[in-house]
Amino acid sequence: MRDDRIGCNGGARLAPAAATAFNRMQIALTGIKPSGHPHLGNYLGMLRPALELAQRYRAFYFIADYHALTTLHEGRQLRELTDEVAATWLALGLDPQKTLLYRQSDVPQVMELAWILSCFTAKGWLDRAHAYKDAVAQEREATAGLYTYPVLMAADILAFGTNVVPVGRDQKQHVEICRDIALRFNHTYGDLLTPPEPLIREEVETIPGIDGRKMSKSYDNTIPLFAPGPALRKRIFQIQTDSTSVAAPKEPDAAPVFQLYRHFVAAPEAQAMAARLRAGGTGWGEVKEQLWQAVERALAEPRARYQEWLADRPRLHGVLAEGGARARAIAEALLRRVRQAVGTEL
Ligand code: TRP
Repeated sequence: MRDDRIGCNGGARLAPAAATAFNRMQIALTGIKPSGHPHLGNYLGMLRPALELAQRYRAFYFIADYHALTTLHEGRQLRELTDEVAATWLALGLDPQKTLLYRQSDVPQVMELAWILSCFTAKGWLDRAHAYKDAVAQEREATAGLYTYPVLMAADILAFGTNVVPVGRDQKQHVEICRDIALRFNHTYGDLLTPPEPLIREEVETIPGIDGRKMSKSYDNTIPLFAPGPALRKRIFQIQTDSTSVAAPKEPDAAPVFQLYRHFVAAPEAQAMAARLRAGGTGWGEVKEQLWQAVERALAEPRARYQEWLADRPRLHGVLAEGGARARAIAEALLRRVRQAVGTEL
């Protein structure tokens, strides 16, 4: 209902019938912090599933640049990483006419809502939030930005009437805090905010890096998503394997190289490779070669498109500006009702 009122797909150019069907779909929203170069773990764990989800939901995918500001204090780099995230989405096939792609900072309504929501956020909820607790436990300096991170995230989600939030397990707590905030607000003002559900991606959860630990820039074990072919191959050959001989039977499931391979080929191919490894006679080097080829098949074209987007910043920024305008219109419709409710709209 709210969707119809605010005109819904926010100006995407769809035929009327398609637009109506589209507007009735549930909203899936998620954000990526531009705090590192996109890697294969991001692709398998987040980007690829999100693009699939965008077929079934009205998807809102944004670049959480103000969240990145909790850790990244270099303007030039934030700008560059923002462009990289945008170019990555577009290169992988996000259709900006269907999926709303925008920068968080292009929607000041989110900031305004964050303040309002903070007045409905129990301090105890933030005390218990993992990111803040970890910082305190490790005696790292915690800023107010890190502390209120979950409130800003709640504003990201609630400003758009989001139904589901596809996230990794590490973000589940944040979505729960968001729900609690929404319920508390609604308890006072009536059902204005939509309490969202987290959509946890179970099966692709832990993508191993080259050392077998979760692929993460903090472990320096990532495989860059759009590295040129030779650099990619080199990195793939750095994946750690045990020193069993080619002839020896091997256990595929425990090996990071096989875990990655599995994600890039169809199930029968993965099973065939697993059987060959268990039988003996197949070396890890061969699995690496096959993995490299599979990654090339999947990503060579997106890589070329990625370079094209980054080579044409005005075009890239144009897409973001358009997405930002549509996002603002949607968020503003909700904010107007929120201001009316709390009494800051006269
Ligand atoms: N906190 C998320 C992360 O670190 C990024 C994020 C910011 C987000 N706002 C969001 C994710 C809203 C989902 C919904 O990955």
